[in-house]
Amino acid sequence: MLAKVRSCAVVGMEGVIVEVEVDISGGLPFFAVVGLPDAAVQEARERVRAAVRNSGFRFPGTRVVAALAPANLKKAGPAYDLPIAVATIIATGQAPAEADGLVFLGELGLDGSLRHTPGILPMVAASHEQGFSRIIVPEASAKEASLVDGVEILPFANLAQIAAYLNKEGQPLPVPINVADEEYIPPEMTGIDFAYIKGQEHVKRALEIAAAGGHNVVMMGPPGSGKTLLARSLCSILPPMTNDEAIEVTKIYSISGLLPPSTPMMRQRPFRSPHYTTSNVGLVGGGHFPKPGEISLSHRGVLFLDELPEFGHTLLEVLRQPLEDRVVSISRAQGSVTFPANFMLVGAMNPCPCGYFGDPVKQCTCAQGTVARYQKRISGPFLDRVDIFVEVPRIDYEKLADDRLGEKSEKVQARVTASRKKQLERFKGTKLNSNADMSAADVREYCQVEESAQSLLKAAMKQLNLSARAFHRILKLARTIADHEDSDIIKAPHLAEAIQYRPRSLLM
Ligand SMILES: Nc1ncnc2c1ncn2[C@@H]1O[C@H](COP(=O)(O)OP(=O)(O)OP(=O)(O)O)[C@@H](O)[C@H]1O
Ligand SMILES: [Mg+2]
Repeated sequence: MLAKVRSCAVVGMEGVIVEVEVDISGGLPFFAVVGLPDAAVQEARERVRAAVRNSGFRFPGTRVVAALAPANLKKAGPAYDLPIAVATIIATGQAPAEADGLVFLGELGLDGSLRHTPGILPMVAASHEQGFSRIIVPEASAKEASLVDGVEILPFANLAQIAAYLNKEGQPLPVPINVADEEYIPPEMTGIDFAYIKGQEHVKRALEIAAAGGHNVVMMGPPGSGKTLLARSLCSILPPMTNDEAIEVTKIYSISGLLPPSTPMMRQRPFRSPHYTTSNVGLVGGGHFPKPGEISLSHRGVLFLDELPEFGHTLLEVLRQPLEDRVVSISRAQGSVTFPANFMLVGAMNPCPCGYFGDPVKQCTCAQGTVARYQKRISGPFLDRVDIFVEVPRIDYEKLADDRLGEKSEKVQARVTASRKKQLERFKGTKLNSNADMSAADVREYCQVEESAQSLLKAAMKQLNLSARAFHRILKLARTIADHEDSDIIKAPHLAEAIQYRPRSLLM
């Protein structure tokens, strides 16, 4: 007897429908899985046998062959247990063969219970796109699956319930309402509130502009001046994600297996802070079955690189391409996969190894040449991709001891959100979400500079020796500053502020 059911695999960010066929013929007991299975899929034989028996069904004592198609796609993980088990039950006549329009997703326990599996959201979306609209999922994955509109989600707790449903003796469990439609109540704020950070008004302003347009920032200053503190407080002023952005981010976390079952949708912009000992693969993604790296996990959020020069030359250089393209393509022998990587880079660094170069109070003890060598660890091309460069000086006692609180993050966030809204309206119908996303062509279209400010731009280009990229970055940043002041055209003060955020000469 032969039975065929469908499941789904994830390749990069895309779901691919996998057909699982089980054939049962006479002969001595034998069970094989074919179709490029990895070690975990091979182990399905043991799990399926136990799960089928423990669910009250008979497992054939003859020759069983399970084939996974397309055969040229490498199969990984335990997600094929469920379709193999269901096909076995159908092939032995213990359930009717009417599983044609269904897609089976989930992992199987030895007792026949269904478990959550990574990648549910992209798999449900892909199944829907390929014309399958009835999808069987584990009960624990139902909330995540329900994020896709227009499909019938059928949640079950175990294999026996699925067989009962196929035999028309049972019903699926109730589907939770789509969490995307639920009213969103923001959780308790993470990170410190802007109000508690003393002084550093110009840094706060720079971070506000950066958040408004999604621009990259690097902060430089002596130890203990508050760089790490300021970067971490950035979360509290970022604008909320749109629904589309939230779904994109949720897909990445779903594939990475980082989506907590209790929060099936990522509503808060991610904030990732990898250590400088991270590997290239950990940072940009990759591996045998390519997985998203830190730059994709911070998609639509912040990638914070603390102690920037310690990251080392190669690690920073691999960031250059994704910083420009906002996606990362990883090539493997079997083909290439692309992950989104549209993140806001925030870097923090000391000006020299001892940390006090340029400090008005404490003398720098670094040997001659050390400072330049330290700062040169960050290459010109990397710095060219930074929109905002701010110095974070030592904070004096008077300011630190001042008990008055500053402006609350909530208020800053409201301004940032208003700016972002303006940008979303401007970019309606395009793929752009914020000013930082603009390409050179978009800059020409959207960044009109006031007549009287043209000469300022020309002088800056000449005196600061700016690259073409820096020119476009200044215009994008000036666009954000203008948006933040509700000005349709870029005026001289907006340009002047944007220009003074360029990296200092020592670094270039
Ligand atoms: N502006 C500030 N307002 C209030 N507290 C501050 C401020 N700056 C620094 N601090 C206090 O000093 C501590 C150290 O600051 P932080 O870790 O941000 O320094 P840093 O600039 O990152 O130093 P390093 O270069 O050594 O990494 C903070 O945890 C905070 O308690
Ligand atoms: Mg620090």
